[in-house]
Amino acid sequence: MEMQSLTDRDYAMIRSLLHQRSGIALGASKKALVAGRLHKRVQRLGLPSYSAYFALLASGSDPEEVQEAVELLTTNETYFFREPQHFRLLADIARDAAKGKIFRVWSAACSSGEEAYTIAVTLQEVVRKSHPLNWQVRGSDINTRVLEKADSALYDCDRIEGIAPDLLKRYFLQGTGPYEGQMLVDPALCKRVDFAQINLVDPLPELVPFDVIFLRNVMIYFEADIKRRVVQQLLSTLVPDGVLIVGMAENLNGLVDGLVCIGPGAYRLERRAARAP
Ligand SMILES: C[S@@+](CC[C@H](N)C(=O)[O-])C[C@H]1O[C@@H](n2cnc3c(N)ncnc32)[C@H](O)[C@@H]1O
Repeated sequence: MEMQSLTDRDYAMIRSLLHQRSGIALGASKKALVAGRLHKRVQRLGLPSYSAYFALLASGSDPEEVQEAVELLTTNETYFFREPQHFRLLADIARDAAKGKIFRVWSAACSSGEEAYTIAVTLQEVVRKSHPLNWQVRGSDINTRVLEKADSALYDCDRIEGIAPDLLKRYFLQGTGPYEGQMLVDPALCKRVDFAQINLVDPLPELVPFDVIFLRNVMIYFEADIKRRVVQQLLSTLVPDGVLIVGMAENLNGLVDGLVCIGPGAYRLERRAARAP
């Protein structure tokens, strides 16, 4: 069946829905991309047009389909050791961490988990180089499909290019038989990493404070007011001298107060001067 094309009116509706649900602002130029990403879904549901699909989404009768649409429209590009400078910084922060307490890191838009496991490998390397550190990593994303992938900890060998050979050997198991061509993250690391669905534009669930939060390559999709709200929420879940890391091409200059830039895309919560008695 030939499907009708995506009208401007329908495109305006899906943009508004996505913005409301995820904070993602789609530009006018993304219409063809959106049509491409939703085409198969509309056909699979046996609907005659995008309009019929959007009427279903707008009816409020099928919240799962709304989530499905959001998942189809998020961009999940990621890879191991992306922007490696941030992992060197993380190792430095971890080495300086107070002994005896749990060092917690949050990968707050973790996509399929490569960032969370890169953090885990980095922290375990700090431990291996004889610095005692009890660490935990939380990964979260709005998209449940990528979270399932993250939870599986299983990656195709062509996804592991950024990982140094010694780290590959130490922290990944090579698949055999039906898993030929795949690598599994070492279960000992996985035990310290967990994943949950968290929508950054919703009020956050109760979280134990983090020493470091990675919020990389997601705010590019948000407008300034949503960025500010998301960052402010996240800052409230940092320990007093915690660090927030955004993408190398992103910056928080002028967005919120109380942050000191400590490197490209890296910000430490400013220590508040002790109040005079
Ligand atoms: C381009 S990926 C970045 C992955 C990783 N942080 C990195 O830098 O490689 C952006 C991720 O942000 C997620 N995302 C978009 N809007 C979100 C929201 N409102 N709440 C949580 N995650 C969101 C997407 O699902 C996607 O997986």
